[in-house]
Amino acid sequence: MHKVIFDTDPGVDDAMALLFLHRHPEIDLLGVTTVFGNVGVDLTTRNAQFLHKEWGISAPIAKGAAQTIDPSRRDDRAASVVHGADGLGNIGVPETVDLPLDPRPAYQFIIDTVRANPGEVTLVAVGRMTNLALALRADPEIAGLVKEVVVMGGAFDVIGNVTPAAEANIHGDPEAADIIFTTPWKVTIVGLDVTMKTIMTAEYLDVMVKSGDRSVKLLSDLSQYYIDFYKSRVGIAGMAVHDSTACVYLVRPDLFTLRGGAVRVVCGGIADGATIQAPDQGRKFTGSPWDGQPSQWVCTDVRSEEVLEAIRAALVDGRHSVA
Ligand code: BDR
Ligand code: CA
Repeated sequence: MHKVIFDTDPGVDDAMALLFLHRHPEIDLLGVTTVFGNVGVDLTTRNAQFLHKEWGISAPIAKGAAQTIDPSRRDDRAASVVHGADGLGNIGVPETVDLPLDPRPAYQFIIDTVRANPGEVTLVAVGRMTNLALALRADPEIAGLVKEVVVMGGAFDVIGNVTPAAEANIHGDPEAADIIFTTPWKVTIVGLDVTMKTIMTAEYLDVMVKSGDRSVKLLSDLSQYYIDFYKSRVGIAGMAVHDSTACVYLVRPDLFTLRGGAVRVVCGGIADGATIQAPDQGRKFTGSPWDGQPSQWVCTDVRSEEVLEAIRAALVDGRHSVA
């Protein structure tokens, strides 16, 4: 069983990933921590509460960061054009959802849960990495107690999606991401190199709706805005299931090709938020900011059809189906 804390900014593709984690039989969802990103943290938290209630998810929700770890950074670009003004495809989520939050801030929830389960917790971060960086700042020893960190973010051998250089989760808090990648714990990075190859078409989702329950129908309803965005603005028939792809890595790492090497994030300038790896194999560099940094794992390729099938199977045939 994989014990998981899901750090998220729901978000349409975050919503699919949440349902995947909830339903996958080998995943024990210990908690959900929210962060600003696709919309502000009040809305991402409200969206997590909404999805928990609709989908019968009992894992606690702890509200997280509202801004970048370096408070002098200006707010990043709004992602509402991608996910809708409410973050969930403008389906009409109620303004408030009556579901109590964990009283702790997200970073403290992470620290306490990791310390209560030493060596067992995987942190799956699919938004800005601010909460994780705050947890490390408050309690650096947790680095040695976490099993693995799986991140959706970055663009290594491909162009970005916020600027040509940078992917959204990194661009939204580059300093936080650089802290996560240079900490001596195991990080696996599932970035645009593989998530932009993992496209779920509207037809594929329709088939899932036909064989799934009303949770899958809600997921399909809230995904339509996102699918329209991909069609009109990216020229793709279907949606990139970024955050679910990172979750599939947990249970099917065999579907991914990985490359080891230190990873740094460009902080500032025209390439703000760019992720660059110094691969362990091949050309060697000396006297660079990658020197002495821990080797982390970057996904460079994926068997995307099988990733989509793993998502379908968990959502449609997994646990916790409702009538
Ligand atoms: C990432 O950015 C967000 O918009 C998505 O939820 C995903 O986590 C993709 O770049
Ligand atoms: Ca996300």
